[in-house]
Amino acid sequence: MPHIIRSQQFSLPELSKIFSKTDMIRSLFATEDGKNYLRTRALNKTICLLFYEPSTRTRVSFDLAAKHLGMQVCSTENAKEFSSAIKGESLEDSIRVLCGYGVNVIVLRHYEEGAAYRVTTIADQCKVAIINAGDGGGQHPTQALLDLYTIQAELGSIDSKTIVIGGDLKNGRTARSLAYLVSRYEGVNLILVAPPEFQMRDDILKHLKEHSTPYRIVTDKKNLQDDLRAADVVYWTRTQLERIEGKLSANFEEFTIGPDEMAAMKERSILMHPLPRKFEIDVKVDKDPRAAYFRQATYGMFVRMALLDNMFNASVPLNSKPLSS
Ligand code: NCD
Repeated sequence: MPHIIRSQQFSLPELSKIFSKTDMIRSLFATEDGKNYLRTRALNKTICLLFYEPSTRTRVSFDLAAKHLGMQVCSTENAKEFSSAIKGESLEDSIRVLCGYGVNVIVLRHYEEGAAYRVTTIADQCKVAIINAGDGGGQHPTQALLDLYTIQAELGSIDSKTIVIGGDLKNGRTARSLAYLVSRYEGVNLILVAPPEFQMRDDILKHLKEHSTPYRIVTDKKNLQDDLRAADVVYWTRTQLERIEGKLSANFEEFTIGPDEMAAMKERSILMHPLPRKFEIDVKVDKDPRAAYFRQATYGMFVRMALLDNMFNASVPLNSKPLSS
């Protein structure tokens, strides 16, 4: 089954196909006829959103993406407490049960790194596709796809971009998945901003070296303005307090992006954030046209429609002119 587990599973041609499909879906979605046509693409297919960790964007955008393609959706939010997990049921057994209901796709968010991969063996037996919607501090591949799509949609391309990624890079799965994926593109240059104990883990740094993606590690605020000046994309993230044991040993607040930091950024650049944000982006910059995070969330629904459409219609191209006229 075409599971989506890690961002690095996608090749450049696959990424480019997903992004073209997303463009087409966005333009079809702009008309009633287009929407009606999209709703025939995965008619009678079923998807289960199985979320053991909190979510707003990922869960709702997958829910809507599936409905806009005509799918049936069932979901359990906070499955850690409101599903039989609280009674001691294993994730494996829950997947077996969903298999029995004939579900076609399971979108899984789990607090354990590696959980999505672990259940692919069971899912293969009953031909269910697993989509990793976040596995603890591991990965969040569909977020990385929508992040890349945002860069392409807003700046025209991903090649040769200087991307500053900041925040809790050790525990932040969106930053990790994005770092894996940008290494596919020519000339991308990464600047990784985080206190030393929250820097990217060795797995990512090794991957970047192997793919000859230049990166620079920045551990304090001193030269942040210079880095922001060089950036085409500033990708800022939240401190993952839920994954940090004990007292927070770093002051992330000094890395907040506010009007002064925004003033340093180029005119043609964007500020991104997977959301939710806390203090790390000052609401004062929301009105700046370069603040792309809410547009980024919107693109997410369309990218997820493209991914689901691919699962059922890999060889049935989208009809770009479904209009009755
Ligand atoms: C992210 C996540 O869950 O990893 N949220 C999201 O899906 N947009 C980011 C976060 O929680 O910090």
